[in-house]
Amino acid sequence: MGKTTEMKYLFEPRSVAIIGASSSPDKIGYKIVENIKASGYKGKVFPINPKGGEILGYEVFPNIEDVKDDIDIAVISIPAKFVFDSLSGCAKKRVKFLLIIASGFSEIGNLEEEQKIVQYARQNGMRVLGPNIFGIFSASAPINATFGPKYIKSGSVAIITQSGALGVAMIGKTSAERIGLSAIVSVGNKSDIDEADLLEYLGSHKDTKVILMYIEGVKNGEKLISALYKVTKVKPVIAIKAGRSKRGAIAAASHTGSLAGSDEIFSDVMKQCGVLRAETIQEALNWSKFLATSPKPKGEDAVIITNGGGVGVIATDACEKFGVNLYDNLNDLKVTFSEVVPQFGSVKNPVDLTGQATILDYEKALQASLKSKSINSIICLFCETATFDANDFIGSLKNLSSNARFTKPVAFALFGGEKVESAVASLKREGFSAFTEVYEAVSSLGALYSHYRIAKELASQQSAEQELQKLSIDMDAISEIINIAKQEKRSFLFQNEAQAVMKAAGIRTPKTFIAKSLEEAVLFAERIGYPVVMKVVSRDILHKSDVGGVMLDLQTKEEVIDAYQVIMHNCKRRAPSARIDGIEIAEMIKGGVEVIAGARRDGAFGPIVMFGLGGKYVEVMKDVSFRAFPLTKREALKMISETKAYSLLLGTRGEERKDISSLIDAILKVGTILCKSKDISDIEINPLLIYDEGEGACALDIRVMLKPQGD
Ligand code: COA
Repeated sequence: MGKTTEMKYLFEPRSVAIIGASSSPDKIGYKIVENIKASGYKGKVFPINPKGGEILGYEVFPNIEDVKDDIDIAVISIPAKFVFDSLSGCAKKRVKFLLIIASGFSEIGNLEEEQKIVQYARQNGMRVLGPNIFGIFSASAPINATFGPKYIKSGSVAIITQSGALGVAMIGKTSAERIGLSAIVSVGNKSDIDEADLLEYLGSHKDTKVILMYIEGVKNGEKLISALYKVTKVKPVIAIKAGRSKRGAIAAASHTGSLAGSDEIFSDVMKQCGVLRAETIQEALNWSKFLATSPKPKGEDAVIITNGGGVGVIATDACEKFGVNLYDNLNDLKVTFSEVVPQFGSVKNPVDLTGQATILDYEKALQASLKSKSINSIICLFCETATFDANDFIGSLKNLSSNARFTKPVAFALFGGEKVESAVASLKREGFSAFTEVYEAVSSLGALYSHYRIAKELASQQSAEQELQKLSIDMDAISEIINIAKQEKRSFLFQNEAQAVMKAAGIRTPKTFIAKSLEEAVLFAERIGYPVVMKVVSRDILHKSDVGGVMLDLQTKEEVIDAYQVIMHNCKRRAPSARIDGIEIAEMIKGGVEVIAGARRDGAFGPIVMFGLGGKYVEVMKDVSFRAFPLTKREALKMISETKAYSLLLGTRGEERKDISSLIDAILKVGTILCKSKDISDIEINPLLIYDEGEGACALDIRVMLKPQGD
């Protein structure tokens, strides 16, 4: 296999060949040459077409092998069925990157041809971008090797897009929004190069301040996770994901599987990696611009300056929603703003300059906020009034920013009619972060703060692997248990085996025995002490309650005898062909908060863990959150705190706080067992009872599923 080539030459190629370059202006092969030329590309351009001649002043070579110079990238714009045959010339020329524009591959089910191309490319040391792409624009080169718009505004936002049409539209939209791009890369079918490869380059690319990704599906999630961890520490990554499909999860055997809709996992994993997930394209673009142009905040405290109480309240609500902390030191606010705010205004945050505020009042308030040592960011709101023209903001802010420099993040929201809207457009043109909607301004500042916190946290986080090494789990004992199940060709562990797995990991389980007869059942019940629980043990019955195979809270010997007979009767009637391996007699455990903790292998992201409110109704309540594994204790706590179950664990209505550290321990242990045992596909504890702080946790029901043998 060929050596992987550095991504640098994809973004900064020294030479480019266009296979399928055409002199017909309506063809993509012409458009690409035209765009490369218009972008002021300084490298060498080699159009390739059997007809030879000249296109836009460039000499056309009949065959790529006729080119004497080295070639970094080859943009291939010929129909899908001819692409493979064109590769041998590229291989001979040792082309580094193949950018395959053509559609007609895996996206229409033609996976075989795509794989053939990738395999050949790899064998010959070439990397493939696409197929099914519109190309690449990179401001560093500069090169516009796309068939999209001719002129692309340079700047500091990089876009990676899986959708071609949306990508091309985003070029237009970013230009309309005055957002400059450092790069835009179409990844199409991601047959080889994917987001992770590109993040590697863009993460350390100094002209790229923000990375925006439009993703439809993740193929190699583990690679993406590790790339993201590296990048989000240093610069913001914003993601928009389409495709909220739950396909694939439906057939899963465990709750962890069926609750794990692809979108839920994507969302939670992105959060874990510090990615900012935008709901809409507009929101993503707002954030991109704000984060690319705004100075970094030095602290959390924000101030709202407004001329209207109403928008001030809306902004206050928005601050809560988007995690913006409002500065509330009244004394300091009074000192800072008392000279600016009229008597009937308010120096509390929101600072209300009142409806009679003039541009001068705004200037003073902004200056005071910029000067203040305690205020770290500013939300400046304006409601159209008769007192002054919104356009006054333009000159005033230009003045203010050139004198005092905006050393702090400032988000403006100006609300009103046509004049106000045109003032906002002018402010945008001047490079200010201005919006016509209060929520847009606050959500942008919120995104900036999210990144600020993420970067700080990731920088100080110790590696998950280091933390997990401290867990003591007897993997040899677990392997022995699994081997028995494998020998018996079972795809799951019996409850007593699953309990032994928990024991090997130091997770408490109820005292349990398996009775093979009624006499044994009574004997074990007496040994454990009443009350007890009885459950059928059968390799053919996975959902025991559904067949009437579970009896709880049995207080006496007589009740145990009755329960034994009822369970046997129910199973014979409702699952007549099931083999009964015995009846489990277990200590009846009460109290504690019932939660679910699970781990499984996700098709896209590899090992994942799940936490949520437990019990019978998990799938109805859907109060769950996910994380990719490995993860740190701190991240596990975050995952727990995202659910409603968290408030139960903190202790509601006068109850004691529960043993959250035992819960974290259990989550990390199930994840570790799954990762270390290649045979396990799912582990799930439901319910896992969490007792009061210091009293630990107890795994009541455990399900361990094995991968189909031969996998
Ligand atoms: N080497 C060099 N040139 C070749 C060639 C080869 N092996 N095979 C064919 N050519 C030439 C053709 O003769 C033609 O030149 P001409 O205009 O001088 O006759 C040129 O390359 C283009 O080939 P053509 O057959 O005319 O294809 P096309 O331009 O109509 O379409 C694609 C090619 C790739 C654009 C088209 O097949 C396609 O896939 N379109 C969809 C692209 C898309 O949407 N991508 C995803 C965007 S997000």
